[in-house]
Amino acid sequence: MNRNKIHILLQSKTPLDQVEVNGWVRTRRDSKGFSFIEVNDGSCLKNIQIIAPSSLPNYHDIQRLTTGSAVGITGSLVPSQGKGQSWEITATRISVIGLAPETFPLQKKRHSDEYLRSIAHLRPRTNKYGAVFRIRSELSYAIHTFFRDRGFRYIHSPIITGSDCEGAGEMFRVTTLDIKNPALKDRGLDATRDFFGKEASLTVSGQLSAEMFALALGDVYTFGPTFRAENSNTRRHAAEFWMIEPEMAFCDLTGNMDIGEELIRYLISHVLRECREDIELFANFVDKTLMETLNHILSSEFVRLPYAEAVELLKTSKASFDYPVAYGIDLQSEHEKYLTEIHFKKPVILYDYPKTIKPFYMRLNADQQTVAAMDILVPGIGEIVGGSQREERLDVLQDRMDEMGLLKENYWWYLDSRRYGSVPHSGFGMGFERLIMMITGITNIRDVIPFPRTPGNIDF
Ligand code: 4AD
Ligand code: MG
Repeated sequence: MNRNKIHILLQSKTPLDQVEVNGWVRTRRDSKGFSFIEVNDGSCLKNIQIIAPSSLPNYHDIQRLTTGSAVGITGSLVPSQGKGQSWEITATRISVIGLAPETFPLQKKRHSDEYLRSIAHLRPRTNKYGAVFRIRSELSYAIHTFFRDRGFRYIHSPIITGSDCEGAGEMFRVTTLDIKNPALKDRGLDATRDFFGKEASLTVSGQLSAEMFALALGDVYTFGPTFRAENSNTRRHAAEFWMIEPEMAFCDLTGNMDIGEELIRYLISHVLRECREDIELFANFVDKTLMETLNHILSSEFVRLPYAEAVELLKTSKASFDYPVAYGIDLQSEHEKYLTEIHFKKPVILYDYPKTIKPFYMRLNADQQTVAAMDILVPGIGEIVGGSQREERLDVLQDRMDEMGLLKENYWWYLDSRRYGSVPHSGFGMGFERLIMMITGITNIRDVIPFPRTPGNIDF
C-alpha cells in the first residue's frame, strides 16, 4: 500500500519531511549528479518528479530504470524548481521493485486506441485510460449517492435468470450440460436435466426483480452487469455492459422522465466538479467540443416529444437517411443523430412508442396502440436511457403477454405483483458505458469498459 498517494501530495500546503510513494516510472532523465524520474501511481493524471541524487547507494541501478518499472521512493516533498509542477520529491531511498524491460509496449509515444485494445491489460497505465477508469469509478460512486440522497434502496438483482425481460431473444444460455458429449448433440439440450431443471440464461436486465422490490420498498435501483448476445459489432453495443435501473412505485411516465433527466445532469456536474483534471484531458485531446456539449446538456431542458411527432419530423426533414422513416419502425442511430445533433441540438426524450416495437411490460395507453415508453437520446451517443411506465393492470398485462406469445406460467410470480396490491410504477435502464462515452467524448464502447466483450472477442 502507498503511504502517500500522489494526488494527495500534489495538493499539500506545506513541504513534508518524510513521504513514501510507490508507482511506475514514466520517464527518466540523467543529469550531472542527479537523475530525474517521473513517477505515476495511478491516483491522478499527474506524475510526480523524483530527484535522485548520485549519492544514493544504488544510483547505478537507478540509472538503469526503464519506462514501466515499478519503484518505491522515500524522501521529502519540496517545492519544485521546474515549471508546471508545484512539488517534487528529493529521494533519500529508491527501491527498484519490478523492472520493465525495453519490450514494455507503452514507451513514451502516442498509441492508437485500436492498438491499446489489443493490450487491454496494460492500457490502464496510459494517461488516457487511467483517466477513463478513474472517471468510471467516480461515476459509480455518484450514482449510489444520487439514489441514496433521494431515499432509494439498492437491490442486487440476480445475474442468472429464467426470464427474458426484453423478449428480444438475445440471451446467453447458462448450462452445466456437457455440450461436447456427442449423445447430447443428437438429443439437443434437455433443460429438465440441466442444473436448474429449466432453461437458464444471463440476465439482459434487472428490471423484473427491481419491480418486485419497488412494490415493497418504494423506490429502488439496481446497478450491475447485464448481458446481450446481439450479434452487432457497433461502437455502442457490448455483449456485457453495466446498467443502472431505478424503479419507482406510485410513479407515472412524467415522474420517470424527471428522474432520468435529473440523474444525467447530476452525474455530469459531479464529474465536472470532482474529476476536473481527467475531464480536461478528454476536452483537449479526445473531443474539442466536449465542455461545450456537457455544459449545454446541463443548461438545457430536455425536449419531450411523442414518437409519432418525431417520425413526422424526420419524414418531412430535408435530410437523407439510409433507413427510410415510417411509423412503427425502431429509430436508427442516424435518426437519433438527426434529432439530437441537427434539429434540436440537445437531449430529446421520445415517448409513447407503438406497442409493436416495445416489450410486454410497458403500460398500454388509452389509444390501445401506443405504450407509455420513454427513451432518452443524447447528442453523440443516441439512446442512453430506455424505460417506461409499467402495465399495472393484471388483465391488460395478461392480454399483452398472450398477444406476444409469452408463456404466462413462466411469469406467475411477476403476475402476482399485479394481483396483490398492484400500483402504478415506472423505471428505466441507463447504459453505464454509454454514460461514460457521453461524459468523456470517447466514441467506442470498447474503450470505456475494462475488458470489453464483443462478438468474437473474449481475450483478457
Ligand atoms: O432500452 P433497454 O433495452 O431497456 C431495458 O433493458 C429495460 N428493461 C430497462 C428498464 O426499464 N429497467 O436498455 C437500457 C439501456 C439502453 O438505453 C442503452 O443505454 C443500454 O441499456 N444498452 C446497452 N449498452 C451497451 N451495449 C448494449 N448491447 C446495450 N443494450 C442496451
Ligand atoms: Mg432501448
